[in-house]
Amino acid sequence: MSENRRQIIAANWKMNLTVGQGKKLVNHILEEKDLPCDLVFAPPFTHLSEIKKSITDRDKVFLAAQNCHHESNGAYTGEISTVMLEDMGVQMVIVGHSERRQLFGDTGKWINQKIKACLSRNLQPIFCFGEKLDQREQNQHFETVRKQLNEGLSNLSEAQIQDVIFAYEPVWAIGTGHTATPGQAEEMHQFVRKEISSTSTDQVARSVPILYGGSVKPANASELLHCPNIDGALVGGASLKAKDFLAIVEAVV
Ligand code: PGA
Repeated sequence: MSENRRQIIAANWKMNLTVGQGKKLVNHILEEKDLPCDLVFAPPFTHLSEIKKSITDRDKVFLAAQNCHHESNGAYTGEISTVMLEDMGVQMVIVGHSERRQLFGDTGKWINQKIKACLSRNLQPIFCFGEKLDQREQNQHFETVRKQLNEGLSNLSEAQIQDVIFAYEPVWAIGTGHTATPGQAEEMHQFVRKEISSTSTDQVARSVPILYGGSVKPANASELLHCPNIDGALVGGASLKAKDFLAIVEAVV
C-alpha cells in the first residue's frame, strides 16, 4: 500500500446471493461508519438497482458490474451495455476476469474493446489479468501478464490509462485457497507498474491503483495489503460474509 494512491477493497460476489441476501450483507458492512479506504460492491446484474439504493449517498462506496458488452446497443441477446450500466448508476466494471476468459471465451481483443467502452462512458474498468499455474511453473508469468496488459491497454491514451483500476489475479490463487505470497504478489505488482510506465508515463504508472486478487482472506490480508505496490484487494469468496470482508477492510490500516 502507498500513502498517495487510492486504496480499494472490492467485493466480487460472482454468481452468488439473492437480492435480499445481498442487501442484508451490504447494510451490515455499511454499519461501519469510518471506512479506511474505498469499497466497491460488484453484485450480479439483477441486483444492481437494489444494491444501489443501499449504498446511495455513502462516501467512498462504489457500485460495479461484473462484465459488460462493448457495443452500446444492438442484437446481442443476453448482454448488457455500458450505456445501460451507466444509466443505472453503476460506476465501475470488472473486465477480463479469468473466469470470463476461461469459461466464456473473453479474448484480449474483446477485453480491450470493453475497457474502451467503459472509458467512453463514465465507468472505471477494473482490469483483471494473471497467469495460470502452468505458466508460473514454466516461469512464463511475466511474459503472460505483459501480453495481457498490452492487449488490454492497446490504443488507450495516457489519460485513459490513468482511469483504469488494475487487478493482478493469478489464476492458480482464485477460489483455491492458495494465495500468492506477499513476495510473489509484490514482485508482479512492481513489474506491472513498470509495464504501465512503458505504455504510458512514469507518473501514470505511479498513480494507478493495482489490486491483488486470489484467496484474499482475513488471515492473509494484512501482509498483502502492506506491500508497497499493492493498493487493495479484489475479494471473491471472503466478500460474501460481512465479518470476513470487514476484517479485510480493516487490514488496510
Ligand atoms: P477468491 O476470488 O477471493 O474467491 O479467490 C477472487 C476473484 O476471483 O476476484
